[in-house]
Amino acid sequence: MLTVKKECALFDGVWEIGAEDQVWMSHGDTVTRIPDGFETVATSKGAPYAIIANENKKFYGVQFHPEVVHTLSGAKLLSNFVHKICGLEGDWTMAAFKEQAIDTIRRQVGTAKVICGLSGGVDSSVAAVLIHEAIGDQLTCVYVDNGLMRTGESEQVVSLFRDKYNIPLIHRDASNLFLDALEGVDDPEVKRKTIGRIFIEVFDEEAKKIGGAEFLAQGTLYPDVIESVSFAGGPSVTIKSHHNVGGLPDRMNLKLLEPFRELFKDEVRDLGRELGMSPDLVDRHPFPGPGLAIRVPGEITRDRLDILRKADVIYLDEIRKSGLYNKIWQAFAVLLPVRTVGVMGDNRTYEYVCALRAVTSTDGMTADYYPFEHEFLGRVSTRIINEVQGINRVVYDTTSKPPGTIEWE
Ligand code: XMP
Repeated sequence: MLTVKKECALFDGVWEIGAEDQVWMSHGDTVTRIPDGFETVATSKGAPYAIIANENKKFYGVQFHPEVVHTLSGAKLLSNFVHKICGLEGDWTMAAFKEQAIDTIRRQVGTAKVICGLSGGVDSSVAAVLIHEAIGDQLTCVYVDNGLMRTGESEQVVSLFRDKYNIPLIHRDASNLFLDALEGVDDPEVKRKTIGRIFIEVFDEEAKKIGGAEFLAQGTLYPDVIESVSFAGGPSVTIKSHHNVGGLPDRMNLKLLEPFRELFKDEVRDLGRELGMSPDLVDRHPFPGPGLAIRVPGEITRDRLDILRKADVIYLDEIRKSGLYNKIWQAFAVLLPVRTVGVMGDNRTYEYVCALRAVTSTDGMTADYYPFEHEFLGRVSTRIINEVQGINRVVYDTTSKPPGTIEWE
C-alpha cells in the first residue's frame, strides 16, 4: 500500500495528499538514498522512497511496477506522464501503424524474397498476413510440424494459409525427427534447445529448396524481447529461452524482419483485426513454440502426448461451451509424470495426474489463475477421467505469475 505525501504532477487527477492505493512490487530490493534535487512524494512500508520526483527536470522514479494491472492506478500514472508531462497527444492508431509497417516492409525488403516460419499461433500468422499484404508472393511461409501440436492444428494451419489467404506455404512433417531427438530428455531448457536446434536444421533445409531468400520474418513481440535478453549485461536473468529460433538468422545468413517487435500481444491482435483476420485466429490463446513438450514435464513419449491431447481437447471444449474462452488469456492441460491410485468400476487404476491451468493476463508478463466455478471444474474432471484412458485424477493449478510462470516448464 502506497501513501501519498506530497503533490506531484504525476498524480494530477489521480491522488490527493494522504491517499492510499495498491501498487505491485515483486522484488526484495529497496532504494536507500535518493539523488540530489529529488524529493519523496509517496512512500510505502517496504519502500521509503516509493515515488520520487524532480519537478524542475520533470524526472520521476517509481519503485514498483506501474505497468501491471495489480497497480490499480498504474495506467493513469503512465497516462499522466505521457500526455500531461511529456505533452504527447496519443493519436497513434492501429490503422496508421499498419500503413506505416507495410511501407517500412516494402522499403526494407525491396524486391528480395522473404521466408516466414508459421507456428499456427497468432503472432506468426499476423506477421505473415501483414507481410503478404506488403510484398505479395515475394513471401513464402514454412510450417514445420514438430509433432508437438494439439489435435487438428497442423491441418488448420495448412488449409487456412493455402486456401483462405492464398499465401505460398511449404508444409514439412518432421515429427519423427523431433520426437526421436527428445527421447530421454527431461530438462526443460534442454527440451527447448533440442527443439530449437532441429527446427533450425529443418527450416534451413526447406528454405534452401526455396532458394535466394534474403529475409527471415518473425512475429517477435516486445515481451519476447524483454524476457529473453538480459539488457546491457544487467542483472536480470533470462527466465526461459523463448527465442527458440535465435540461431537461425546467423546460420542462414538472413536478415531479420520483425515488423512488430515493439508491440504487445493485444496490439498484435488489433493489428490482425485491422488486416481483416477472423476472430477465431486473432483471439486464439497463445501457444508456446516448444508446444506440448513443455506441458509434459519429464520425458516426452508419443503415448503421453496422445493422452495429453485428448484431455486438452475436452478442457478447451468445455471452456468454449461455457463462453469463457475469450475471458481467459490461456488455458491448457498438463500431463504430470506422477501416477496415482484410483478405482473405476470394480477395478483399481494406477494412472497419470492431469493438471488444468487457466490464467488471465494482458501481456503474459504477469498473470492470475482463473477463478472457475467448482461445478465447471467438476464437469471437466469427470469428462477427462471418463473419456481419456491413462488419466485417473485431475487437479487445478491456483498459482499466479509471479511467482509461478504460466507454463509448467
Ligand atoms: P511463461 O510460462 O514464461 O509464459 O509465464 C509466458 C508466455 O510465453 C509462452 N511461452 C513460450 N513461447 N517459446 C514460446 O514461443 C517458449 O519457449 C515459451 N515458453 C513460454 C507461454 O505460453 C505464455 O504465453
